[in-house]
Amino acid sequence: MRYPPQFLDELRARLPVSEVVGRRVRLKKAGREWKGLSPFNKEKTPSFTVNDQKGFYHDFSSGKHGDIFGFLMETEGVTFTEAVERLAAMAGLAVPAATPDDARRAQRRKTLHEVMELAAKYFAETLASRTGARARGYLADRGIDAATQLKFRMGYATPERFALKEHLGGHGVSVEDMGEAGLLIAGNDIPIPYDRFRDRVMFPITDLRGRVIAFGGRALEKDVPAKYLNSPETPLFHKGDNLYNLASARLAAHNGAALIAVEGYVDVIAMVGAGFEATVAPLGTALTENQLALLWKMADEPLLCFDGDKAGRAAAYRAADLALPLLRPGKSLRFALLPEGQDPDDLARSGGRAALDEVIAAARPLADMIWAREVEGDTYATPERRAALEARVGELANTVRDEVVRKYYRQDLAERLRRFLTPEAAEPAWRGGGGARFWRGGEPSRRYPSGGGARAMPAGRPGARPLTPSGPGRAYQAMSPQLAGSPLMRGQRSAMPRREALILQSLINHPWLLHDHLEEVAALEFAHPEAHRLRAAIIAAFAHAASAEADPAAAAADLREKLAGDGFRDILQRVDGAITTGAVWGARFGAAADDVLMTWHQLVSLHRQWNSLTRELKDAEMALGQETSEANYSWLRDVKARLAAVDGLEAQIEGFGEESGRRAGGV
Ligand code: UTP
Ligand code: MN
Repeated sequence: MRYPPQFLDELRARLPVSEVVGRRVRLKKAGREWKGLSPFNKEKTPSFTVNDQKGFYHDFSSGKHGDIFGFLMETEGVTFTEAVERLAAMAGLAVPAATPDDARRAQRRKTLHEVMELAAKYFAETLASRTGARARGYLADRGIDAATQLKFRMGYATPERFALKEHLGGHGVSVEDMGEAGLLIAGNDIPIPYDRFRDRVMFPITDLRGRVIAFGGRALEKDVPAKYLNSPETPLFHKGDNLYNLASARLAAHNGAALIAVEGYVDVIAMVGAGFEATVAPLGTALTENQLALLWKMADEPLLCFDGDKAGRAAAYRAADLALPLLRPGKSLRFALLPEGQDPDDLARSGGRAALDEVIAAARPLADMIWAREVEGDTYATPERRAALEARVGELANTVRDEVVRKYYRQDLAERLRRFLTPEAAEPAWRGGGGARFWRGGEPSRRYPSGGGARAMPAGRPGARPLTPSGPGRAYQAMSPQLAGSPLMRGQRSAMPRREALILQSLINHPWLLHDHLEEVAALEFAHPEAHRLRAAIIAAFAHAASAEADPAAAAADLREKLAGDGFRDILQRVDGAITTGAVWGARFGAAADDVLMTWHQLVSLHRQWNSLTRELKDAEMALGQETSEANYSWLRDVKARLAAVDGLEAQIEGFGEESGRRAGGV
């Protein structure tokens, strides 16, 4: 396909070569140019240069030379057309001239929208009919009145296997279309496709234009495997890119209502009923990056109001971790903490708007949340531990990508640290409880009647909470023992990715690596919070080691002991546990220095490739979410293939060293 030259120029103008190249090659500014290691040849000293003014890269090691289009074609093996499409997506520009393919797909989506609308009408009619009596009773019991049912277009799917299928068939909808819309259970092993949703209360999910694109279904019976069943991914519905009640919430937020995210459909309905109209919920998954982006389009500081149980707290921490790197000036999150065991629906019904107002007024900023998690679960009785806390907190601030926000996070966290560790009054905060009683307040401030009797509210408003809690006798205990021992704090978190564990294991077993690679280690992007923390602790321990030990094995043993003493015993175990194979020779204790170095370089380079590909994957998914074009699909497929290739390389590293007979080499 031929593109208008102005369009290509526009792309060149919008995308500096250093930006495009920088996704793959780590570049350092060198005068007016950028320099980095050649992506075409393995090399140790950088011979690859990028000049943004001239719009070219030049690689002295291979003699290769080109512009942004050439770079993609060279490094990713794509055609010119694909390179243009990808760069256009990167630049946020639409590629001119739609293909007939695109036109056909648009038509297809229109048909599916019609099918979904017919289904929503049918479910709503069924709810209103005699068949829907039991479901209406259930909704009435949950305090959802008829007006609310209408407002949310709620419906009912009968227990029969072919009710919707026959109804839609009667309207001329093909079985294929019903399947593509996600309304049937179908597949090669299913001779006769049947209704996906049976005996469920139906919650239609709409897009920003209010068109029905999916359903969530709440089981009426108790012993059903899935309490909620949601539509699968379809051409209309990508659950990670949408939010329940998004269209009305956006309007309400635009008109000034506070934007709130809760966990469940029924929570949204209860919140809206209580007057919080700009309430949304994710759709059966943890909050995704795209959903966060949607929230930030509507409000600067959306409020997350998750269930007051273990899962809700874990989800809140997960959301905080998701948001931290993505913060931009003015954009943040707030967290409302619900009473133990309650969700917004419970609280709205038991305490009404007043109870919710109180919880919302006591919401805490993201920085509080992050801080509280760091100081919970550990004690700070020794200088080393306090140093480790400082290192960890510094690490966290470093994950913020925006430079300005990062600066202020550093300041804010440093200030909290100072207050926490400096004995202001008689008693330093780390002796008392600092951010300690974050979730499970000490004294209940007020009680609301609820189903099973009175339940405590979380500890009072932030203003009422002293920064340096008093409390002699609670020395060296930064939090309540129940919380310290709870599975939430004891690492009920996700497993550490293997590659991150391997990198850490290399450092722990071969601390001398840090001599030459300290900056590299500090700059590594880790996805897992514990990997972050352990890295900070390793660096801190290394920096504070009195002198380089002559005996590397003794140095490794000392480091392990130090880390274990600093409260990293569990994490160390998890790092060792994340490594299921003993074959990554170079990471292991006792490997020869050459092997260690070689493995180290391979691991780090794979890790960087992986990270840059994961970022590209997000871009590709985003592009596809914005425009379902063949180009975007193939971009996504391609990124996934390259990710798989990185996995393959990783598998090869595993065999390294063993085959080459180096096992005999020893230290
Ligand atoms: P909850 O279990 O907190 O739902 O899950 P809820 O709204 O409090 O449930 P009830 O109806 O009051 O008992 C919160 C959200 O997680 C998703 C749904 O989106 C639900 O609204 N979920 C939950 C599922 O997708 N499947 C499930 O089996 C359970
Ligand atoms: Mn809930």
